[in-house]
Amino acid sequence: DAIEKGEFPSYLAKEISEQPSVIRKIVQKYQNDKGELSLSPDITDSILDSDRIYIVAAGTSYNAGLVGKNLIETIARIPVEVHVSSEFAYHTPLIPKKPFFLFLSQSGETADTRQALALVNEWEYPSLSLTNVPGSAMTREASFNLSLHAGPEISVPSTKSYTAHIAVLAILSEVIGLKNGSLKEAFLIEELETVADAMQRILDHTEAIEQLSTEVLSYSSHAFYLGRGLDYFVALEAAMKLKGISYIPTEGFPAGEMKHGTIALIEEGTPVIGLVTEEPVARRTRNNLQETKTRGAHVLTIAMEGLDQPDDNVVIPKVNPLLSPLVSVIPTQLLAYYCGLHRGNDVDKPRNLAKSVTV
Ligand code: G6P
Repeated sequence: DAIEKGEFPSYLAKEISEQPSVIRKIVQKYQNDKGELSLSPDITDSILDSDRIYIVAAGTSYNAGLVGKNLIETIARIPVEVHVSSEFAYHTPLIPKKPFFLFLSQSGETADTRQALALVNEWEYPSLSLTNVPGSAMTREASFNLSLHAGPEISVPSTKSYTAHIAVLAILSEVIGLKNGSLKEAFLIEELETVADAMQRILDHTEAIEQLSTEVLSYSSHAFYLGRGLDYFVALEAAMKLKGISYIPTEGFPAGEMKHGTIALIEEGTPVIGLVTEEPVARRTRNNLQETKTRGAHVLTIAMEGLDQPDDNVVIPKVNPLLSPLVSVIPTQLLAYYCGLHRGNDVDKPRNLAKSVTV
């Protein structure tokens, strides 16, 4: 145990810190001998033959799927739907003639996701699983498999498998986009390297994040993460992580939707963490944050360089906006980690949670 954790006090701390090297490893693993990102032709042909992609996943993998949808639709121009595994079997969407299914799962063993995959196999549709555990059930059950190459994820709260899922989905988007002509030029290798550097810069200076976590978050009775677009998707993952590790009830919410009910929950001092990484919606998100502030919220902001303002709490290095979730999620993982520690929780094994829900 002690050996595997090395210098780290927990697996969670270790796995959060491994993310820059996981991104670099993924880039390396998916390069062919010409140094281009590539996937096996069986996989690309099957995806190119489809008219709609379905992503089915649970938990953090589902949250990664939301970001994946954005990547695939933007880069490869194929419509994508994202479904929660436990809903899929009972509320099956109307499926077009040529669907392609992506099953995201760190463990490759989640029962609900496997059940959805079993249905898809019954219908004889092609599928690809993205898993982190070689030889896991879903690697055998899907038509194709891609590995996340994130290395063993021991801590119950998923961190590096979230960013690994997004990176592999970005690679899939670029490979398909180049093949179907939606993308003119490869761009991802360089951008993912920038992402890895940006992650590392955040991980090298965690003092301010730790301070916010212990001084502002850890004493609160509830909290919010707000964002729009990709920032909203990260808000969902950030909230899941904060509640799962600190036990503070937290909601991730589309910033513009607060006024329709949820803003009633804002009290004097309620922490509201705003994510601001997308230029087209940055001003709107800031307006929404201001609306909570005038109701008493203690607003904290995580903003990307270039969109930052002097009083932002965390400024993340600038990366390609499509990939911003890979970087903006890091401070939110750290906030959850420090908050859990400060509250005396077992951050590797939060109460009531299992690493893999196989029943
Ligand atoms: C459990 C874990 C989560 C994980 C979810 C899906 O609830 O605690 O961290 O996101 O299962 O797991 P999977 O292995 O399918 O990604």
